[in-house]
Amino acid sequence: MGLPGDKNAAPQESLTVKDNRTGKVYTIPIADNSIQATAFKVVKAPFKKGERPENETDKGLRIADKGYLNTAVMRSEITYIDGEAGVLRYRGYPIEQLALHSNHLETAYLLLYGSLPTKDQAALFEKEVLHHGVMHSDAEQFFRSFRYDAHPMAILTSAFAYLGSYYAEANPSLQGQTLFTKGSPESLANMDKQILRLIGKATTMAAMAYRVRQGRAFVTPPTGLSYTGSFLYQLDHSGQENYVPNPILEKALDVLFLLHADHELNASSTTVLQTGSSLVDPYSAVAAGCASLYGPLHGGANEAVIRMLISIGKPENVPAFLEAVKRREKVLSGFGHRVYKTSDPRSFIVRKTADEVFKVTGKDELLETAMALHEAAMKDEYFTSRRLAPNVDFWSGLIYRAMGFPLDFFPVLFAVPRVVGWLAHWRQMMLQEGGVKIWRPRQIYVGEGIREYVPVEERVAVVGSKKTPSPIVHSGITKRTMLASFKGKTLSKL
Ligand SMILES: CC(C)(COP(=O)(O)OP(=O)(O)OC[C@H]1O[C@@H](n2cnc3c(N)ncnc32)[C@H](O)[C@@H]1OP(=O)(O)O)[C@@H](O)C(=O)NCCC(=O)NCCS
Repeated sequence: MGLPGDKNAAPQESLTVKDNRTGKVYTIPIADNSIQATAFKVVKAPFKKGERPENETDKGLRIADKGYLNTAVMRSEITYIDGEAGVLRYRGYPIEQLALHSNHLETAYLLLYGSLPTKDQAALFEKEVLHHGVMHSDAEQFFRSFRYDAHPMAILTSAFAYLGSYYAEANPSLQGQTLFTKGSPESLANMDKQILRLIGKATTMAAMAYRVRQGRAFVTPPTGLSYTGSFLYQLDHSGQENYVPNPILEKALDVLFLLHADHELNASSTTVLQTGSSLVDPYSAVAAGCASLYGPLHGGANEAVIRMLISIGKPENVPAFLEAVKRREKVLSGFGHRVYKTSDPRSFIVRKTADEVFKVTGKDELLETAMALHEAAMKDEYFTSRRLAPNVDFWSGLIYRAMGFPLDFFPVLFAVPRVVGWLAHWRQMMLQEGGVKIWRPRQIYVGEGIREYVPVEERVAVVGSKKTPSPIVHSGITKRTMLASFKGKTLSKL
């Protein structure tokens, strides 16, 4: 850095980088406290003696970031998280204020379009979303084609892709690749119609995935109920007259939906953007996001909490469980977070909501164990020194359980509201300045260098774990089949 007034000094908003391989110095501009990874492409060096050409040393420096630990892939105006301070804001509004005063659909409008709707705007948005709840009657066959014990997330993930097959108008492969990126009134109207459809049908498809496993007839979305009221109706109504879901459960579910609506660039939202960057239709992109959410490191944690609490059983078993966690034999599910290092602001709201729900459902038998676990962990130096606090999943599973949802339905209750966040990020990406760039990361190739093809007679068998296909046990083939013969040879010898 030069003295003040030194004309050769690098601009203050920049990084001065010296490549010690060549002695060259580079100035990399800083904007919004970030640097462009592509700026490092000019940092080139000659190959060292014996260095692999696959290192591409002469083609510019690469930025390695396994797991996106410090890579910003979007400029976003949607959600802000301060993990140190335990802050979560949607479009600038603290999550605590939204949970107290707003509702899921109003918050959906906010996340998608950037401002809180007026009364009329909110009413129109709700009307359109609910209008789009009805599925084509052919969809019944699709849902019925799953096995009775299919995981509801497998059904829902497939259903999003299936839904896209109905809307040729929403398919850039058919309509042209600028279908959603033009920003013209027609293009925006088309985009928003798909968004309304996806939010509207998410609850219907989730309810169909639920009912098909019970062998129950499907229910047409009712009129006159809220988004979560309609969802509860579609899940549970079996012909009773004037069936109205319990308002406290309806409200609690709405609060949980609002809390789960977005969480900036988590794994599933990033998957939606990664998939959407090829300009595929939004139904396929949302299906990809849903698949990502299905994983136990993402949407499955609330279910893991309940399984953990069941395994602990009674409050008196908590100390032994925590000792096992400290010996690293067990994981304290529902504690810790990649971003939040003090507290997850959503966990306080969920805890309060749990009390509201228990007033009508009765306390979950695992609540006392959960409270004992929470109290003991928050006092224990092992957890406090690692800044491990309960996250949103610690309490939400108990609410879902108290409401009577099966464990494998928990991720569905996360995916349905997250459709909003996925679409808010997708919409923002389609309309971003400069258009959409396909997301194509780089790799560090560490495999074999160039090799000559070896004829089969000259090959030496390569063996070893992971180096050959693993032996397979055919579960569908019985001993009797193996003892049968085909053209004189027993099947086991073939
Ligand atoms: C969420 C999570 C994946 C974040 O992981 P991360 O940011 O990579 O944190 P780290 O794995 O670096 O953890 C830091 C330390 O805390 C410990 N730790 C983190 N979460 C822990 C947990 N739930 N139980 C016990 N120890 C935990 C780690 O072992 C590590 O200890 P060490 O430094 O002695 O090795 C992790 O906290 C976790 O697995 N939590 C349980 C699952 C869960 O609730 N997921 C839902 C998140 S919303």
